[in-house]
Amino acid sequence: MAISGTTKVCAIIGDPVDHSLSPVMHNAAFNELGLNLVYVAFTVTANELKDAMLGAKSLGLRGLNVTMPHKNAVIDYLDFVDSTAEKIGAVNTILNNRGKLTGYNTDGSGAMIALQENGVDIEEKKMLLLGAGGAAKAIAYKAAEDVDELVILNRTEYKAKQLAKLLSSTFDSKITSGTLSSSVLKAELENADVLINATSVGMHPDIESSPVPSDLLHSNLCVMDIIYNPLTTKLLNDAKSVGATAISGLEMLIYQGAVAFEIWTNCPAPVEVMRDAAINVLEKRGVHC
Ligand code: ATR
Repeated sequence: MAISGTTKVCAIIGDPVDHSLSPVMHNAAFNELGLNLVYVAFTVTANELKDAMLGAKSLGLRGLNVTMPHKNAVIDYLDFVDSTAEKIGAVNTILNNRGKLTGYNTDGSGAMIALQENGVDIEEKKMLLLGAGGAAKAIAYKAAEDVDELVILNRTEYKAKQLAKLLSSTFDSKITSGTLSSSVLKAELENADVLINATSVGMHPDIESSPVPSDLLHSNLCVMDIIYNPLTTKLLNDAKSVGATAISGLEMLIYQGAVAFEIWTNCPAPVEVMRDAAINVLEKRGVHC
């Protein structure tokens, strides 16, 4: 795309951002639709966040993605925060509308759309969510809107308990918590429909690990991992082996990006183009596809 005097800029800010897949995904999407937008990555340390946000306003950046370590702290510099992001307490997408910054969280909706687009209906289902960190919290808030039962299991049990308590005050669905152990997994997985791994267990270089013993998986399950390096984690391989549906973390990454794209452009995101662009980079990096 030819950059001109009217080209608008979107960017990701975080530290580190060098390996982010967002620039390739969004630039491919902007090109596909012929939009006069370009997407770049800015390394912004915690000390620089305030200046970066003032700069985003004064330079007229159209939109931002926000990643580690700023997803919580950035809220202080926004004019508006959408209700989901406010509840989660984390923002990963910002729209700059004539100098007014609005924060959104597209991680949870990205995960829900990833399930939907892969043929998984979570309505009135039992979901097991592994992890209680930032990603798990974003997913839990969206999932709790639709599931019948949500069970949050975490290595550090009190974090799962806190998250379940927070969610229970907002949603009607049955929300419980526990420790991430084989015995709890065994009991909870038996009648579960959906399992989401939002822990870092199985992420490169720890690729031989899985948060779930393989013999506890069953063919009625749909398993989604939020890890995309490797694209097929041990958990997903084990899920496939027993005939369960397996959805890669790349799907969540793509759909959280697609939702952000639509917030900035008001155009439907060219999801296949974004997926191809991301896979292309991952292959070049030697990520096992
Ligand atoms: P993110 O923003 O990706 O969610 P995070 O907030 O650091 O990252 O959360 C990481 C999650 O992975 C947490 O739920 C963490 O469990 P703890 O709360 O007990 O730390 C989980 N996790 C990381 N390493 C783990 C391991 N070896 N076994 C089990 N869970 C692990």
